[in-house]
Amino acid sequence: VVTTFDLSNGALDAMFTRRSTSALAEPAPTPEQLELLLQAATTVPDHSNLRPWRFVVVPSDGRARFGDALAAAVAQANPDVTDPVLEKVRQKAFVAPMLIALVASPRPSKVAEWEQVASASCTGYAIALAAHALGLGAIWKTSPVTEGTVLAEVLGMGEADRFLGWVNVGTPTDGPREPAPRTIPDLRVLATVLTSDGPVPYDPPSTGS
Ligand SMILES: Cc1cc2nc3c(=O)[nH]c(=O)nc-3n(C[C@H](O)[C@H](O)[C@H](O)COP(=O)(O)O)c2cc1C
Repeated sequence: VVTTFDLSNGALDAMFTRRSTSALAEPAPTPEQLELLLQAATTVPDHSNLRPWRFVVVPSDGRARFGDALAAAVAQANPDVTDPVLEKVRQKAFVAPMLIALVASPRPSKVAEWEQVASASCTGYAIALAAHALGLGAIWKTSPVTEGTVLAEVLGMGEADRFLGWVNVGTPTDGPREPAPRTIPDLRVLATVLTSDGPVPYDPPSTGS
């Protein structure tokens, strides 16, 4: 199924044409672009305005420290891990010219912790979407182990904080992607409608084509 809606609206166009980009090179986002990406992250839904998110920008010269911390997390969780495995994890820091690490930072509040982590999760998408709107490439990435004291220290995380991976950002090496409509999964499988008689399968409108 391919969407048949009019996507000339800017927001919908950005959502439906965004694709993650793995092959990223210099130039990294400019300081102005980075500022916009971070501002975009703050536009996510946020119950009670708690701002339960933090961002750790990893520019080119911070990547070695970040990569070492990713590897240290794996080594802490599995002391028998081999060097090649650690090196592979470390290399995750070097596939893009800039990384933006995402940290959920729940506050003491009547707002449940899960709601705050959900809000923080939205920031990864917001950054990826804004990067796309700027003509940059981006992809949300993570590592096999996202916990541990070394990683927490390098990212400046507090006790309640949770590392949610990071968004690689840079310039797509293959040039800008042609805006192509996304293939939409079958919503009859993913969606139900709760009626007064109980849940029934979602029935998409006929497109007339
Ligand atoms: C929390 C999170 C972590 C992810 N980690 C990885 C990862 O480590 N490696 C990877 O190839 N894709 C990862 N992905 C998936 C990509 O970011 C991307 O969504 C996927 O490749 C689909 O591409 P699309 O965004 O163009 O649909 C992750 C996604 C999320 C939400």
